[in-house]
Amino acid sequence: MSGPLLQGQLAVVTAGTSGIGRAVVERFLAEGAEVIVTGMSPERIEEAQRAWGDQARVLRADGSDLGDLDRLVTEIKATGREVDVLVANAGRDIDARNLADTSPDDFDYVADLNFRGTFILLQKLSALLADGARIVLVSSIGGSNGSRGHSVYNATKAAVRSLARTLTSELGERGIRANAVSPGPTATAGFDQFTGGSKAIEQKVAAMVPIRRVGRPDEVASAVTFLASAESSFIAGVELVVDGGMSQV
Ligand SMILES: NC(=O)c1ccc[n+]([C@@H]2O[C@H](COP(=O)([O-])OP(=O)(O)OC[C@H]3O[C@@H](n4cnc5c(N)ncnc54)[C@H](OP(=O)(O)O)[C@@H]3O)[C@@H](O)[C@H]2O)c1
Repeated sequence: MSGPLLQGQLAVVTAGTSGIGRAVVERFLAEGAEVIVTGMSPERIEEAQRAWGDQARVLRADGSDLGDLDRLVTEIKATGREVDVLVANAGRDIDARNLADTSPDDFDYVADLNFRGTFILLQKLSALLADGARIVLVSSIGGSNGSRGHSVYNATKAAVRSLARTLTSELGERGIRANAVSPGPTATAGFDQFTGGSKAIEQKVAAMVPIRRVGRPDEVASAVTFLASAESSFIAGVELVVDGGMSQV
């Protein structure tokens, strides 16, 4: 297929002011989409809005806050357009801690954004999606493996992956396709939090990847763009793993 993959389409990308989400936004803009982006830090929101200009609208919205999600819906409605692509990317983890050390607050902190927030985002936006729209859910290889100390995060990511199946079943009659992208270790601020900024830990992680390095956000963005475009027109309900083979060996 030639030409930009998302020309003239309206996309919504959550948590798009840094890391994987930012790489997705920048690729979507390059592919001709207009993008509504959410972020948290006012400085990064301002910087991103300046960098992207009129093709993007960057809003502050905490993905775990229902009032913020309602405001996002209002902003989307104000465009008078239907949403062609929704990328549910917002997610977070806490420092590794075993089952016995995980408090109810830890549980809520992770689950409120990764699963409850993602679920309610999808619920609120489903009526705004165009027939034939694409949903891309950002899960994680943690949803399928059992990395020690990350029980809540991993379970929420399995839940997010599961949503790609159920939403395909429920929204398929409108031609809407839902798929998940599951990154392995990817160089972002979120990953630095996981390694504690330690180069030695990063190298250890890289050594567990068959191709001996961690991924780049733009490599995850390529997979998201594929699933967000007509290039994947008969693919629905799947999980596309982007991890240099880490979870396969
Ligand atoms: N990096 C990895 O190795 C990896 C691996 C597997 C899966 N993932 C998943 O990929 C997604 C993106 O991860 P990342 O590593 O790119 O993250 P990141 O580098 O930590 O980026 C965080 C982004 O999320 C925004 N954000 C933070 N809290 C938020 C909230 N409550 N509501 C909405 N947005 C919020 C941040 O906004 P501000 O910058 O304004 O604070 C920023 O734009 C997550 O779902 C993560 O679980 C990442």
